[in-house]
Amino acid sequence: MDKSAGKAAVKGIVLAGGNGRRLEPLTSVTNKHLLAVYDKPMIYYPLGTLLNAGVKDILIITGRDHAGRFLKLLGSGGDLGCRFSFAVQDEAGGIAQALALAENFVGKDNCAVILGDNIFEDDFGGVIGDFRDRKGARIFIKDVPDPHRFGVAELNGEKVINIEEKPSNPKSSYAVTGLYLYDNDVFSVIKDIEPSGRGEMEITDVNNHYIQKGLMRAHFVKREWTDAGTFESLYNANRIARNIELAKS
Ligand code: DAU
Repeated sequence: MDKSAGKAAVKGIVLAGGNGRRLEPLTSVTNKHLLAVYDKPMIYYPLGTLLNAGVKDILIITGRDHAGRFLKLLGSGGDLGCRFSFAVQDEAGGIAQALALAENFVGKDNCAVILGDNIFEDDFGGVIGDFRDRKGARIFIKDVPDPHRFGVAELNGEKVINIEEKPSNPKSSYAVTGLYLYDNDVFSVIKDIEPSGRGEMEITDVNNHYIQKGLMRAHFVKREWTDAGTFESLYNANRIARNIELAKS
């Protein structure tokens, strides 16, 4: 019997709020996730990661500036064979705060959450498809030369025992990338999180909660990955995006 019978697929969430201040003046009159990365607006890449994994019901969360442009660009999703919903995060209060806005959309399902400035070459269809009836959470880690820019995973063998957000002395070179899988408990976990020193509700605090409960598993990202939130990483994102497109053609 089909194990998935009667259970909805994993819901998708793209987080495209925030201010994009590190990219000013590029972001002075538009939103970071609408900037060009090679031949497409940035948000197409994280959307593609979800779509390629078979996720078809996707909530896009944006800030209030330029929200209408996301609607104009993406429409209902019919062109891409999926269904888009939209929500607005009034102020950039952090990734976990943005995710909290997805509670009603996710309903009783599990969810795949991706940051709108993350560009992956990997295909995550297997792990995301498998997660639909799992408990706990999953993160995706990548060995990088500049871990201090990210959430950094402290490992014991292949097991993640803690994550530190942008540490000055990283305990490993494994960045926690911006793709996360959560069971339905994530919304009650977020309700217990306090804002960090920088005034944001941190996704790292949510992930550490799952680690402490023994409910987190980490997967290694095999192919190229970058965020695109700084000039150098945006430049690198263009290179990776070009490789993705040329590989398809
Ligand atoms: O790219 C991976 C990294 O992303 C992780 O390693 C870090 O643990 C995680 O905190 C995050 O770090 P950043 O400093 O890169 O996050 P940033 O503030 O640039 O936000 C990344 C995306 O999250 C942004 O493109 C849109 C979304 N976001 C962010 C904030 C602060 C929102 O939707 N709302 C927000 O309030």
